[in-house]
Amino acid sequence: MKNEVQVLYGLIRERRSIRRYARRPVERAAVERVLAAATWAPSAHNRQPWRFAVIDDDALQARLADAMSAALRADLAADGLSPDQIEAQASRRRERLTRAPVLILLCVTMADMDAYSDAKRSHAERTMATQSAALAGQNLLLAAQAEGLGACWLCAPLFCPDVVRAVLALPGDWEPQAFISLGWPAETPHKERAPLESRVEFLT
Ligand SMILES: Cc1cc2nc3c(=O)[nH]c(=O)nc-3n(C[C@H](O)[C@H](O)[C@H](O)COP(=O)(O)O)c2cc1C
Repeated sequence: MKNEVQVLYGLIRERRSIRRYARRPVERAAVERVLAAATWAPSAHNRQPWRFAVIDDDALQARLADAMSAALRADLAADGLSPDQIEAQASRRRERLTRAPVLILLCVTMADMDAYSDAKRSHAERTMATQSAALAGQNLLLAAQAEGLGACWLCAPLFCPDVVRAVLALPGDWEPQAFISLGWPAETPHKERAPLESRVEFLT
């Protein structure tokens, strides 16, 4: 196998979600490199419907974490969880968001996508935009791995998009999808995958 193929498969195989980070800053140039890699993802009609907001300011991160924890508390209270359970989950969310040296908010926008008059095609177009943004996210995760950085996809913004939008004063068409946390790894987690046969059918 050619060397670059082995390198690519190695990066894909060895990437893990990293949730603990060293107290070492991530240089802006590295953040720009992983973002540039993200934008080379394929996208529907090549409309590039991804948008990114980079948050590496402690005070802003804390404001965001407070507001998102409050939103989580409200959701969990509505679910009927006990105050202890609510507090445990809310403080875990706060910790995840404040301990990462950099948070990259991945958004999708429908601004440049096609508009349809019927719900079926509108839904398909929205799905294509979201799929495109997710591919950009995966590029970003792999580029981070290539840089030796740790990263983790965090779905929380999807559950409180208005809170995220308000705290970050995002443009109206930016729809928050996920945070990708970024930093120098301080853990080496292990993960397994289900056997290929359990997920793949070769059809004849
Ligand atoms: C759509 C999506 C949402 C995720 N949300 C979270 C999350 O909110 N918090 C978290 O710690 N990890 C989250 N993850 C990371 C997964 O837990 C992780 O990818 C999975 O356990 C496999 O581990 P690996 O990435 O190390 O291979 C998410 C991943 C994806 C793709």
